[in-house]
Amino acid sequence: MPEVRVALAGVGNCASALAQGLQYYANCGEEECLGLRNPVLGKLRPRDIEIVAAFDVDGRKVGKDLSEAIFAEPNNVPKLADVPISNVLVHKGPLLDGVGEYTKNVVIVSDHPEANVALALKECDAEILLNLLPSGAAKASQWYAEQALVAGCAFVNVTPNFIASDAVWDQRFAMAELPLAGDDLIDQVGATTLHKTLLQLLSTNGVRIKETYQLDVGGGTESLDTLGRTKDVKRTVKTKSVEAALPYEAAVVAGSTDYVDFLQNRRDSYFWIKGVHFGNVPMQIDMKLSTVDAPNAGSVLFDVIRAMKVALERKMKGAVVPVCAYAFKHPPQLLSLEVAERIFADFIEEA
Ligand SMILES: NC(=O)c1ccc[n+]([C@@H]2O[C@H](COP(=O)([O-])OP(=O)(O)OC[C@H]3O[C@@H](n4cnc5c(N)ncnc54)[C@H](O)[C@@H]3O)[C@@H](O)[C@H]2O)c1
Repeated sequence: MPEVRVALAGVGNCASALAQGLQYYANCGEEECLGLRNPVLGKLRPRDIEIVAAFDVDGRKVGKDLSEAIFAEPNNVPKLADVPISNVLVHKGPLLDGVGEYTKNVVIVSDHPEANVALALKECDAEILLNLLPSGAAKASQWYAEQALVAGCAFVNVTPNFIASDAVWDQRFAMAELPLAGDDLIDQVGATTLHKTLLQLLSTNGVRIKETYQLDVGGGTESLDTLGRTKDVKRTVKTKSVEAALPYEAAVVAGSTDYVDFLQNRRDSYFWIKGVHFGNVPMQIDMKLSTVDAPNAGSVLFDVIRAMKVALERKMKGAVVPVCAYAFKHPPQLLSLEVAERIFADFIEEA
């Protein structure tokens, strides 16, 4: 019997990297776990996680075994591992606002009948529902949070929609005695974290930052959806998070800019920092980080899933602050990187 039973809302690039990663790290423990931050967390290894249900709307994924659906277009994450037949067939969920103006020609909506999502979650004993919908799917994200409540599942909101950081949803999960985590996952090699760390290092060393921006371009469907629907909200979330790294006011902009199809699932992040140091002498940093988007979420998702299992075992209710602060850009309480790291370490050390 697997230890952690997870369901996926959305079988896009992120879900593909997660499912492939579970195979890639299946022997983690006996073999080296290169690329993972926590090979063991809460006494759990990656192989203790099992995907027991999945929901999507795209006809190339719905009705297919998960092992096939994760490689279907428009997913373009690179292949990390062979995934054997899982016997998990992708259910059709309701579309709601799942596609936007820019993605309506990229996603082919299935004509399969819609599943009863809450019932499907109950039938497979799912413990945690991961919300991996496009960032513009605000209504659909809330709808899946509602299904988690009905089915008695913990809910993890990987998208930038405000659920864990919304007091009403926090209260509703608390009333239902279920844990909740979100919003907007922090990547393993996160441009926001790198930006904040650089700014902190410079200001600790007495550099006065005058202006800084961090902008990125990507080629996954998510970058296309961001361009059409969530550019502004992402810019607000990232800029607030980066501003919090500086002990004084400076001109700060952080966000995404555009979709470049030939990048596939790659993401190029550009950093500009301008300030002054000793004697009011100017300094500047002009830097580029290149990553592949979906695998960049894998290690953090492994940590979040296992930490939420710990939260379930401890019968925690509502937003789990150490998990939200450690793994999400827009948690209910924005804490410094050091405090977030420390409270998460304390949280898992007790497990
Ligand atoms: N590194 C990362 O990949 C990362 C980091 C932080 C946050 N996120 C967030 O994770 C989410 C998923 O990212 P992705 O790259 O996998 O996106 P994606 O566009 O590749 O996948 C989204 C999937 O959701 C499906 N979908 C759309 N509407 C649906 C509905 N109503 N019901 C069920 N399925 C539906 C789509 O068909 C698609 O398969 C995004 O919100 C993104 O912002 C990702």
